[in-house]
Amino acid sequence: LVAFASTDRDDAALYRIMTSVIVPRPIAFTATRDAAGQANLAPFSFFNMVTATPPTLAVSIGSRRGRPKDSAANILATGEFVVHVVSETLLPAMNITSADFAPDVDEFSAAGLTPLPATLVKAPRIAEAAVALECRLVKALELGRADRRTYHFIGEVIYLHIDDGVLTDDSLAPLTALAPVGRMGRGEYVRTSDRLRLPAPVLTADGAAATTELPRSLIP
Ligand SMILES: Cc1cc2nc3c(=O)[nH]c(=O)nc-3n(C[C@H](O)[C@H](O)[C@H](O)COP(=O)(O)O)c2cc1C
Repeated sequence: LVAFASTDRDDAALYRIMTSVIVPRPIAFTATRDAAGQANLAPFSFFNMVTATPPTLAVSIGSRRGRPKDSAANILATGEFVVHVVSETLLPAMNITSADFAPDVDEFSAAGLTPLPATLVKAPRIAEAAVALECRLVKALELGRADRRTYHFIGEVIYLHIDDGVLTDDSLAPLTALAPVGRMGRGEYVRTSDRLRLPAPVLTADGAAATTELPRSLIP
């Protein structure tokens, strides 16, 4: 067993360890606009759903050279953002948008993606994405040391765009239509093509949980 206080490791080692054991992580492919209207696009995997009712999600965005990354600065300035799900086909474009572009570079054109107007927010959405979630900022938390701030944003999903190949009349298509990918450590990603179904445990009359079989892989 390797056991240690977090203070016994430097920032880079802790980042490497944490991002390699908290896996897989969903990726929020996030579109924003600055106050002057310049569009921005970048992926963030410190991301998850927070509440279902109302629907909210959280994205954590760090700093660069002592200042909030462009996406964080834009959300702080406008209170709006659009989160997209990263399908396998979007992975190369997503990767390009994570480059350290200057604030005035439009990552949509750099990655060959098409911006579309969103419905309720000024931030754009990605035409090629199967799922776009328009968010209004509910809460922004400033975390971490002053020289290495992380901005944790909770946004309420106020409008949803979902491809009809993925969702029709509230009925979900097989997951292969969305083919979402997750972020692992060490620059790796994971597909969602090998999944398990595990029924919820049922309590027997004496209050014990019935054992369920070890699930086998499911391919839809
Ligand atoms: C898959 C992936 C996940 C990432 N997750 C995060 C994250 O959760 N938080 C963060 O600050 N940066 C994350 N990054 C790095 C940012 O995408 C990168 O710094 C980007 O240039 C920020 O863009 P911006 O300055 O336009 O906001 C991630 C990069 C990749 C490729």
